[in-house]
Amino acid sequence: PLSGLKALVTAGPTHEALDPVRYIANHSSGKQGYAIAAALYKLGAEVTLVSGPTQLKPIPGIQHVDIPSAQEMLSACEQALPADIAVCAAAVADWRVAEQSPEKIKKKSDQDVTTLNFIQNPDILATLSKQGPKRPGLVIGFAAETEKVESNAKSKLKRKGCDWILANDVSPDTGTFGGENNTLLMIDGNGTDRWNKMTKDAAAEKLSRRIADQLKLNT
Ligand code: C5P
Repeated sequence: PLSGLKALVTAGPTHEALDPVRYIANHSSGKQGYAIAAALYKLGAEVTLVSGPTQLKPIPGIQHVDIPSAQEMLSACEQALPADIAVCAAAVADWRVAEQSPEKIKKKSDQDVTTLNFIQNPDILATLSKQGPKRPGLVIGFAAETEKVESNAKSKLKRKGCDWILANDVSPDTGTFGGENNTLLMIDGNGTDRWNKMTKDAAAEKLSRRIADQLKLNT
């Protein structure tokens, strides 16, 4: 059903360098994003997967672009346009250091405390949602929340300007981050659909079928 359509998927964490040997990152495994890329490909889409650093292998048949940081993820995504579908599943770092140190940051004494200044990274999902004529027809984001999942996700849908948000609770006791399962809420302009707990592969297949149905409605 997705044959002839182009999909762009982001996945994994980003690494934001502090100096030549250190970075800040997060626990995203990339599993959900890779599963979505594979499911869209299975339905016939031509897929570009822009991936942060993960332990996962590129998927045969899918255009794979490895990037380390948020800024590089944004330019790889912009280069992948035009696309009919964009799914931003990456856990992009919200901040990076204002100035990367060209040399390894050194302790000055046994007691010193270091302060780093952070600036905001570009928001890839919001940027793709506001691309004007180049905007993908269907832009989908994720909202990883640890509290007030539905209301936070609804405001994110508006703020980012995307079409759908898949919201999940990533509190440590849910085991979502790095785990095999996901419990998602699918939120669009009309309301919320609660999906049962399922594997990330099953969630990816369900989402891809929804995407195919939606694009069929639009034509
Ligand atoms: O704002 P928050 O990080 O919670 O938003 C999550 C959604 O936005 C995810 O779809 C994520 O991939 C996307 N995002 C992004 N670029 C950022 C931050 C988040 O694409 N800098």
